[in-house]
Amino acid sequence: MTSTLGSAPSTLPQANESCWCGSGRKYKRCHKKSEGRILQGLITPMREVPANIARPPYADTGEYEAWDEGRVKSPEIIERMRASGKLAGEVLKMAGDMVKPGVTTETIDIAVHQAFIDGGAYPSTINYHGYPKACCTSVNEVICHGIPDSRELQEGDICNIDVTGWLDGVHGDTNATFFVGDVDPESQQLVNVTEESMWRGIEAVKVGRPLSDIGRAIEDTVKPYKYGVVRAFVGHGIGEQFHTDIQVLHYYDSRSSTIMRAGMTFTIEPMITLGTINYKIWDDDWTAVTSDGRRTAQFEHTLLVTDEGPQVLTGGPGTASPTAPWKR
Ligand code: MF3
Ligand code: CO
Ligand code: CO
Repeated sequence: MTSTLGSAPSTLPQANESCWCGSGRKYKRCHKKSEGRILQGLITPMREVPANIARPPYADTGEYEAWDEGRVKSPEIIERMRASGKLAGEVLKMAGDMVKPGVTTETIDIAVHQAFIDGGAYPSTINYHGYPKACCTSVNEVICHGIPDSRELQEGDICNIDVTGWLDGVHGDTNATFFVGDVDPESQQLVNVTEESMWRGIEAVKVGRPLSDIGRAIEDTVKPYKYGVVRAFVGHGIGEQFHTDIQVLHYYDSRSSTIMRAGMTFTIEPMITLGTINYKIWDDDWTAVTSDGRRTAQFEHTLLVTDEGPQVLTGGPGTASPTAPWKR
C-alpha cells in the first residue's frame, strides 16, 4: 500500500483523453499533473513516549507558548546542548543508514522514535504544534516537514531526514539528505552542493559579524549552479525552546543585521532547489513541496558561536566540513 489517493492503471490515457480516475476531466488536467510526483501514503496515529521520559511543555497539549530565553546561553546550558546535539547526530546517522529502496519512511520514523527514547530524550517534533511523528522525511520535491508514512522509498529517490531530540531540557536539531540506491547525476550534484552550501554558511559564523554573512555564503555557493535558495523556511535560534527568535536566512538580506556573539546557538539549514523556490503545502498542513515538482535538498546542523569560531553541536564522526583540513 503506497497511496491513499487510488492507484493509476498500468496503461495510462493520452493527454486529451478522459482521466482514468473517472473525474470526467481530461487526463492532462487531472492525474497527469501528479505524474512523477510523490504520493502520500498512510500516516499512522501518534506513537506514545514512555512515562519515564521527561516531556517538553507542548507535549500534552500541542500548544506552544514562547518565552524569552535569551540569545546567549550559559555555560551550563551549552554543556547540556552538547549532549543533546550529540544524541541527535547519532540518531540521524542511524536513520540515514536505514535508507534503501523498499523501506518505508514510517519504518525509519519508528527507529528514530526508539533511538531518542533509548538515549533518554523526547523526540521534539511529537505534538509540536500538533506534528504527529518523531522526525520529518522529505522525499524528492518535498522541501521540508514531510510526514513519515507507508510510502516505500524508491531507487533513485533522494530523502531528507530531519531529527530533533529534547534531552535534559534542551533541543538538538539536525538533518541530511540521503540517496536511495543509484541517483541521477543532476540530483547527486544538487545534494552535494546543498551540503557544501551548509558548510560554507557554517564557516561564515564569526563573533562580531552579522547573521547576513551566513546567507551570503550559502547563496554564493549555489549561484554558479543556478539553483534556488528557499526563502519561506529559515534557520532558527534553539536551546530550551525548539525555535527561538533568531532567524537565520539562507540568502543575503542586509536587514539580517543581528551581530553574532559568543554563546549564541542557532541552526543553519539551507533548502536548495533545482527549479523554483515557490512552494505549496499539502492538505496535511505540513508537507511543503516545490510548486514546479522539481527536486530540492537540505542539510542542517545546530551551531554554537565561540570566540574561536563555530562549533557544530550536532556533529560527530563523518560530519566535518569538506573544506576542513582533516578532510582534504
Ligand atoms: N526540525 C525542523 C527544523 O529544522 C522543524 C520540524 S517541526 C515539525 O526546524 F513540527 F515539523 F516537526
Ligand atoms: Co531546525
Ligand atoms: Co530540523
